[in-house]
Amino acid sequence: MTVEAFISSPYQQKPAKGSHTWKSPSNIALVKYWGKTAPQIPANPSISFTLNNCHTITTLTYTKQTTVNADFSFDIFLDGELKPDFAPKIEIFLKRIEIYIPFLKEYHFKIETSNSFPHSSGIASSASGMGALALCLMSMEREFVANMDDGFFLKKASFLARLGSGSACRSIEGPIVTWGTHKEIKNSSDFYGIPYTEEVNDVFKNYQDTILLVDVGEKWVSSTVGHNLMNNHPFAEERFVQANSNLSKLSPIFKSGNLEEFIEVVESEALTLHAMMMTSMPYFILMKPNTLKIIEKVWEYRKETGSHLCFTLDAGANVHLLYPEAEKETVLQFIKNELVAYCKKGKYICDQIGFGARKL
Ligand code: DP6
Repeated sequence: MTVEAFISSPYQQKPAKGSHTWKSPSNIALVKYWGKTAPQIPANPSISFTLNNCHTITTLTYTKQTTVNADFSFDIFLDGELKPDFAPKIEIFLKRIEIYIPFLKEYHFKIETSNSFPHSSGIASSASGMGALALCLMSMEREFVANMDDGFFLKKASFLARLGSGSACRSIEGPIVTWGTHKEIKNSSDFYGIPYTEEVNDVFKNYQDTILLVDVGEKWVSSTVGHNLMNNHPFAEERFVQANSNLSKLSPIFKSGNLEEFIEVVESEALTLHAMMMTSMPYFILMKPNTLKIIEKVWEYRKETGSHLCFTLDAGANVHLLYPEAEKETVLQFIKNELVAYCKKGKYICDQIGFGARKL
């Protein structure tokens, strides 16, 4: 689908007021998106598990203005508290999507949002947050046009979410989503995420993700700054080729359920992401000593028990532990006995693969 397909035809009606609420999940990338060009075009394709418990709930209330505003008019609240510091990111988002949602300046918006995870947990809320907001705007647009089909609705929601935060386009549907053009993935696009439709082995059903909170409340470099450091990065081209090839490797792995191979791709992707950060200019390290301690412990545990527990990382110090549901009890015991000591205030979040956003 081309970008032009997302530009709306003239609306038949424009309601004076209304409100929509969406719950959108977070996601965890297996093959990482790191590097982009304007407007939010990924340098390589990525793939993620949609999560189930970590989510954002957003209510968008809209009121038609008597005249068209010169600028966007909105108030944003987090957990009931006005958050003017969130406004610049929303402003950039609205500016980027205005051509696709041309009624924005005719309304005043109240955006009320809350996350299931604490704001200070180091879990990025941009994917679930932008996902939920994009869906609310799509619900609004759906009122303006007759017969918008569900497929287009979700695609455009993902397309808009991407313009807020790249990874947000993978937070609309589930359980596995790819984003970015890849030669072997039919209908893959740089403009929106699509659910992975090839065969997936039952071992991945209800796959678990326990997030160990290593670095609570400390903010690092913004992701946009991080992505931009992939421009003129000495290893960028090789990295983008590698991401494509890792995505190719995952298809047969999803089919066969070969978890040894799965672990190899996922852990290598996580470490490569951080290696890119360490070798950019300026360079930086987001892992903490406890991140490494956890990784060592996971490797030790796997060697001793033959478990299929593995780790992945986001752009931060927290560790996502991925494992099949069949190992849930034993792995949780291991986490409690051995890993909680490395978590800030002993905190971790139990999650698992989920099926995408829901309208409330
Ligand atoms: C490391 O989607 O947060 O989590 O597009 O600038 O908002 P922006 O970046 P963002 O980057 C996420 C990077 C990552 C890897 C991934 O989720 O694929």
